[in-house]
Amino acid sequence: MQLIDGKATAAQIKAEIAEEVRQIVAGGGKRPHLAAILVGHDGGSETYVKNKVIACEACGFKSSLIRFEEDVTEDELLAKVKELNDDDDVDGYIVQLPLPKHIDEQKIIMAIDYRKDVDGFHPVNVGRMAIGLPCFISATPLGILTLLRRYGIETSGRKCVILGRSNIVGKPMAQLMMQKQYGDSTVTVCHSHSKTLKEECREADIIIAAIGRPDFVTADMVKEGAVVIDVGTTRVTDATRKSGFRLNGDVKFDEVAPKCSFITPVPGGVGPMTICSLMKNTLAAGKKEYYK
Ligand code: GUN
Repeated sequence: MQLIDGKATAAQIKAEIAEEVRQIVAGGGKRPHLAAILVGHDGGSETYVKNKVIACEACGFKSSLIRFEEDVTEDELLAKVKELNDDDDVDGYIVQLPLPKHIDEQKIIMAIDYRKDVDGFHPVNVGRMAIGLPCFISATPLGILTLLRRYGIETSGRKCVILGRSNIVGKPMAQLMMQKQYGDSTVTVCHSHSKTLKEECREADIIIAAIGRPDFVTADMVKEGAVVIDVGTTRVTDATRKSGFRLNGDVKFDEVAPKCSFITPVPGGVGPMTICSLMKNTLAAGKKEYYK
């Protein structure tokens, strides 16, 4: 069994990005600028956004954090989105999700200029991704593809089971694993209402678990020699930690790991790769790689 080290891979990629930024700036080019909108004070979102700002520094990007209180109106948020769309200094930006219930998340996403949508959530980017055109690919699926590639894991023609059908992970992951230019796999998507979920998993060469249920994937669901990618990051209470909680994956790591050829840990697997993929997208936005 080989452990997939997302933390080390992400550090390496961030160093590569930082070197490219140094060259761009030395050549008189513009330093990429990522902005983030954060609404409210949810612990998880605070941590993600803080880590994004730290990653920007590591990559040599400029970053801006724009905060709103939980009671911000949809119109106020839409006005800020328009302002960022019109700000030539901002190459890309994200609106941290989830947003408070009184705000229509899709309406906000639709208002983002797709050329600055480094999360890859806008329908233009989702659609272009689905038909294999250059675009911003959402960060978690892109991070997983990068890990599979950097670890030399063969995906072509293999059976890949994806657990979860979210817009952020499950759906784009299925699209990418299916496409010839990315995974080139035979893809099955299972979710909370799938009757044959366990059977599908047992046949899988690659399992990508993104359902947000701690320890859901157990040893009896995994074929000997399978590759297991754990996207779960549920906060569970843990009195032994200073913070009072720990991040728990969707995979029961201790019993599943011995059966795997490769497995990602939680934390230190997919998580750091998500942020590093956002940095890759921001660099591409700064270089106007996909859209003029
Ligand atoms: N919330 C959970 N994951 C993400 C992400 O990748 N981007 C944004 N904007 N919000 C999230």
